Amino acid sequence: MAGRVVTIDGPSGAGKSTVSRRLAARLGFRYLDTGALYRAVAWSLLASGRHLDDPADVAAALTALRLAVEPGPDEFVVTVDGRPVGLEVRTPEVSQAASRVSTQAEVRGFLLGFQRRCADISDVVAEGRDMGTVVFPAAGLKFWLDAAPEERARRRHRELIERGETVTYEAVLAATRERDDRDRARELAPLRPARDMIVIDATAMSVAEVVEDMASRAGQTWPELKKGLSSVN
Ligand code: C5P
Repeated sequence: MAGRVVTIDGPSGAGKSTVSRRLAARLGFRYLDTGALYRAVAWSLLASGRHLDDPADVAAALTALRLAVEPGPDEFVVTVDGRPVGLEVRTPEVSQAASRVSTQAEVRGFLLGFQRRCADISDVVAEGRDMGTVVFPAAGLKFWLDAAPEERARRRHRELIERGETVTYEAVLAATRERDDRDRARELAPLRPARDMIVIDATAMSVAEVVEDMASRAGQTWPELKKGLSSVN
């Protein structure tokens, strides 16, 4: 871990992606979306017709998977067979599948090196579920970003509708709760804040307010960033 690392963990729909991307731009760090890795694995399992819960099928799929994480100008890009993953990994079906495969030790272990290597390349804002606990336990700054389930479902519903999916708010709320429950109950990297994380409840906060709070804490952690911070955004 040569670079400076900010970790942002928390449940789905709390605004982690938007906040992480903006914070990375503000600090001049690269954004790492680790959910995209789990989604890429899930998507390739679904596409090859393998069983998501069968460890032998999953192991075979991981061996066949040509996955890479490449540094783009602002963010790390996840590729499969040399092509960046796109909206095909953002469907509700892949969300559920990603949550299911992420319970498996084989998958988590397989993805660990991909994530850690990013911090050897540059400073990183890493977003996920176990960034501050498992992947980057020595990160300089760790956040837990949360919001009420109704608010998170409302945001995710709006996103899906904007993308042209036909889905009701109630279905999104139920799926959000189902994913939360599974992510919380799993033995490996369960979804909960660690003691050394700064907890931010974004239910009643704007994205700009959350980013401002995080950026000012980054300025306290790394005083050398302060000069750049006041002139950007
Ligand atoms: O963040 P995103 O919704 O894209 O993540 C998809 C799924 O991948 C999550 O529901 C979670 O189960 C899993 N995940 C994980 N650990 C991470 C990132 C994502 O288990 N670091």
